[in-house]
Amino acid sequence: MNIRDYIKQKKSEVISERISNAKVHEFLKKNERTLSTLFTYYECAMMEVETKFKVLNQEYSLIHDRNPIESIKTRIKTIDSLTEKVGRYGIPLTLESIEENINDIAGVRVICSFPDDIYTLAECLLEQDDVTLIQKKDYIQNPKASGYRSLHLIISVPIFLEHKKRDMKVEVQFRTIAMDFWASLEHNLRYKRDIPEELTAELAEELLECANISASLDVRMQNIRKRLSEDTSEIDDLIDSAQWL
Ligand code: GTP
Ligand code: MG
Repeated sequence: MNIRDYIKQKKSEVISERISNAKVHEFLKKNERTLSTLFTYYECAMMEVETKFKVLNQEYSLIHDRNPIESIKTRIKTIDSLTEKVGRYGIPLTLESIEENINDIAGVRVICSFPDDIYTLAECLLEQDDVTLIQKKDYIQNPKASGYRSLHLIISVPIFLEHKKRDMKVEVQFRTIAMDFWASLEHNLRYKRDIPEELTAELAEELLECANISASLDVRMQNIRKRLSEDTSEIDDLIDSAQWL
């Protein structure tokens, strides 16, 4: 489904679900074309960033003989989620204000094997001269009270259009496989409505403990990998020196 059809569909859903929200309806109706163009620009920026990571992953595997990226997920914020966020933060319902204040319309999630890979990749990305860092939230060094861990960057990248260049914001979330697995499970708890309050509290506590265990496992497995690669490089050195003989 293209973005215009999507907006049309969402618009009719907004009309039927929240008929009282005339302002949102009016805004979507009035800005259909521009909104569709803006969303396409975000999609282009998201593709640019995804490609940057694919390139970094390829190059890393050439040098280090392993891939630091397990998978990359991309998503564009839905109109529903966008209008909900605009309402939640009391952001003026204009295109300019949305572009200025909503940083996560384009999202790229990079799932890494080990915590160190996250920082290596973030550094490599930010070193690129067309990437500008707007905001950094390190929930790995400073986990959320829930136990949530991830490194979030808001960056801006240029997209090159027919006759112009346009800087677009993209939210990049870096997680290990374990952090991502945990976040999906916790997300389910957060959005499940029919759980009794007592059970929610109990599960939240259990999840916090799981987050801590999971974080320490990430570090332990990273240490195993480091020791293995040290050993391998020692063997490689021996082979190299043997070849000199
Ligand atoms: P949003 O309004 O949700 O975008 O949050 P924010 O603008 O304050 O940004 P923040 O960096 O705190 O969170 C951005 C995103 O990270 C969220 O939309 C979630 O995808 C994820 N996230 C943040 N905190 C949690 C958490 O406690 N649990 C889970 N599962 N995900 C989280
Ligand atoms: Mg978000």
